Amino acid sequence: MKGIVLAGGSGTRLHPLTQAMSKQLMPVYDKPMVYYPLSVLMLAGIRDVLLITTPADMPLFQRLLGDGSQFGIHVDYAEQEQPNGLAEAFVIGAEFIGDDPVALVLGDNIFYGQGFSRILQDCVRDLDGCTLFGYPVRDPQRYGVGEVDAGGKLLSIVEKPSDPPSNKAITGLYFYDNAVVDIAKGLSPSARGELEITDVNMAYLREGRAHLTELGRGFAWLDTGTHDSLLEAGQFVQVLEHRQGVRIACLEEIALRMGYISAAECYELGARQQKSGYGEYVMDIARKAGA
Ligand code: G1P
Repeated sequence: MKGIVLAGGSGTRLHPLTQAMSKQLMPVYDKPMVYYPLSVLMLAGIRDVLLITTPADMPLFQRLLGDGSQFGIHVDYAEQEQPNGLAEAFVIGAEFIGDDPVALVLGDNIFYGQGFSRILQDCVRDLDGCTLFGYPVRDPQRYGVGEVDAGGKLLSIVEKPSDPPSNKAITGLYFYDNAVVDIAKGLSPSARGELEITDVNMAYLREGRAHLTELGRGFAWLDTGTHDSLLEAGQFVQVLEHRQGVRIACLEEIALRMGYISAAECYELGARQQKSGYGEYVMDIARKAGA
């Protein structure tokens, strides 16, 4: 399975923070935002990643992540010149995807929950059509919203409805079989001129091939779209990390635990950042793993 991180857009709702720099590079406590969605792909076992971003921001992401080999993965880069919609990722990434299934994660989505990597790996193994994730929110009108029947079966999805049919937001993490490339290529732009991910999902739904996995109360799916929610997401991460002495979305640790890098390589990555608590943590987990 291939993975795409979509980190485009102009982040206008976070101006002036994002005036000069990509939203997905903003700090979420101790690491850049893009670490969190990238960690999701890595936990799913995906090692071939395409990061799509704007021409102006691409060098910054390249400076941060390089070719991914330090984490035992491959990161390629592609440009989305205009914010033409999330589904354009599959058109831009068609060659990268090739004949494989693909997961798309939005570069500003943060997930946290016990057992999440198992859910992700099961999802990759059992994929049949597409898998979406639903999460209950207080303000569903800001998201794609799923309408489900009494048995929890997905009936339809509406994008940012003024009168939401439920409180189940469709999160920015999507798993698709290879048909997604042709589906995306066949889409027409919506009223707001974009290739909508919701239209892709509706195409799968019409064929009876869209599955919804519910992330319940034990999960956190955090918003980073406003100044307040960005700060709150950072505080959430800080509280958990302080309390438990672990780091969330620490790519070095995930690479080590997934067997992508050795303990010695992990230690080296930590040593390069040893002046920060983050680097110390990476060195410490490497030591515990035998480095
Ligand atoms: C996009 C999708 C929406 C989804 C959301 C998740 O909205 O269009 O369906 O619920 O991401 O973050 P955007 O954040 O681009 O407005």
